[in-house]
Amino acid sequence: MKVLIIGAGGREHALASKIHQSAIVDKVYAIPGNEAMVNVAEIHNEIAESDQQAIVHFAKQTHIDWVVIGPEQPLIDGLADLLRNEGIKVFGPGQAAAQIEGSKLFAKQLMEKYDIPTADYKEVSNRKDALAYVETCELPVVIKKDGLAAGKGVIIAHTKDEAIDGVKAVYPEEQGQVVFESFLEGEEFSLMTFVNGDYAVPFDCIAQDHKRAYDNDEGPNTGGMGAYCPVPHINDEVLQQTNARIAQPIARAMSQEGYHFFGLLYIGAILTKEGPKVIEFNARFGDPEAQVLLTRMESDLMQHIVDLDERQPIDFKWKDEAVVGVMLASKGYPGAYDKGHEVSGFDLDSRYFVSGLKKDGDHYVNSGGRVILAIGEGITVKDAQTAAYDNAKKIKSDNLFYRSDIGDKAIK
Ligand code: AMP
Ligand code: GLY
Repeated sequence: MKVLIIGAGGREHALASKIHQSAIVDKVYAIPGNEAMVNVAEIHNEIAESDQQAIVHFAKQTHIDWVVIGPEQPLIDGLADLLRNEGIKVFGPGQAAAQIEGSKLFAKQLMEKYDIPTADYKEVSNRKDALAYVETCELPVVIKKDGLAAGKGVIIAHTKDEAIDGVKAVYPEEQGQVVFESFLEGEEFSLMTFVNGDYAVPFDCIAQDHKRAYDNDEGPNTGGMGAYCPVPHINDEVLQQTNARIAQPIARAMSQEGYHFFGLLYIGAILTKEGPKVIEFNARFGDPEAQVLLTRMESDLMQHIVDLDERQPIDFKWKDEAVVGVMLASKGYPGAYDKGHEVSGFDLDSRYFVSGLKKDGDHYVNSGGRVILAIGEGITVKDAQTAAYDNAKKIKSDNLFYRSDIGDKAIK
């Protein structure tokens, strides 16, 4: 079978590596891919991720059997629908179902209607109402702009002044949809769930991301600064609760409302005193959660996707080891950062997943915010953490930074 991966980040690097190992896959292609994937996929960076017609044309001409879409934007733009209309199998939801990620309001309304545990919310559609709301709302309050924000569109305001500044920041103009949420306290975790209509199968391995830019969860929100799995202190009971109260009901809800979701539903949850509650849904694998989960996964991802398509049982197998991934990001990220600084010291092997590097002559330079994820494996999270930081330290660059506490929550 021939598989085409869409995307250019570290998550797609991990997807390509894992699918390349599949017993049922003959060849992996990537559009646009990145140069670090050369050992696992045929790269087609002459085609843009946004060029839907060219992607469909390539998939037909190359007789691709399955397309696996990594990032949210092509899903929200309807790439899966277009490919399916041409009779090509796609792992990833169509445009309508991808709203579960693309619109906070869509997700909130669905959770409200189907009684799925999440933070209370209030939607407003203009700055005036937003400013009026923060006069009286409970603090802290969470302010989210509707639409895609790459994990960077969320403001947590602890005081009224911060809330007023937050409203001004999300309202450069008078109008616009904004969701206010009550602040949930507890530990966050990520549960990847295979979904085919009302058939939902969560991974039986939780991961934990580190969303803030700096140590001790300080600084601005990012796309994710590191992840690890499994999460030993978030036990099986929590996984079962998340499945029963969130994964199964949301799959049924989408189905009942006429949104057929086929792909990976990312449940971003927070473990509150009342149990797990939803922070966000994504319509695709987490990044960098995918990199650590797929490193730990022993069973065949592509076989799982085929089994999901056929609504067969999915039999996950995991290595005994824990996996930690430490993100090296360009200094300044998630704000402005310099590009073009040399990055060296790493090999293109399973210890590194590349998201923001490009070739410049015979060396690599940084070309994005999140640049490269250093992976470590070990019997315990502590051992995996030590290995990950050893690998992170091998990378040489004057322009990268990383958090020094990835995995600490499992080690305390
Ligand atoms: P989101 O883009 O919705 O995933 O939010 C990004 C991050 O903001 C989350 O990973 C949380 O750390 C934080 N966050 C979002 N919503 C809430 C909430 N209701 N309560 C507490 N923290 C939140
Ligand atoms: N790591 C969080 C996300 O992929 O949205």
